[in-house]
Amino acid sequence: MTRILMVCLGNICRSPLAHGIMQSKLSETHYYVDSAGTGAYHIGNSPDRRSIAVARKHGLDISTQSARQFKVSDFDTFDYIYAMDHSNYTNIISLARNSTDIGKVKLFLEANPSIQNKNMPDPYYGDQSDFEHVYDLVNDTCNIIAETLNKD
Ligand code: 4NP
Repeated sequence: MTRILMVCLGNICRSPLAHGIMQSKLSETHYYVDSAGTGAYHIGNSPDRRSIAVARKHGLDISTQSARQFKVSDFDTFDYIYAMDHSNYTNIISLARNSTDIGKVKLFLEANPSIQNKNMPDPYYGDQSDFEHVYDLVNDTCNIIAETLNKD
């Protein structure tokens, strides 16, 4: 079983999309996918209604997800920890205990060579079109990651 964790700040906008999209592309027999936020503001909340809406538009139900905060034991549970932006990356790395922990943390968009800006834009203060843009970026990048994993 390979375990993948998607991480953003609030765990209500970007990482729930990455969680749902990645999960939909991998066999649940061999992969476990989850998401978390580095911040504590939204613990227990459902994803943002705009993330739920854009996922639903593409045939995915993420409404049952519940936000949680990233915790140090996630370094033990997960094989790959994907940060949505550099700030999330730094926050996760600051909790790492050793080089094994550090080695698990990747900047999500580093997997996508056609995207120059490696920060997934934060759509929280934006509108539905910003969530559409995030959906497309996440979906394209999850396709690349899923292809790479399935080669292993
Ligand atoms: P996320 O977006 O990190 O993609 O879930 C945000 C959600 C909430 C806040 C910021 C970003 N906030 O400031 O409450």
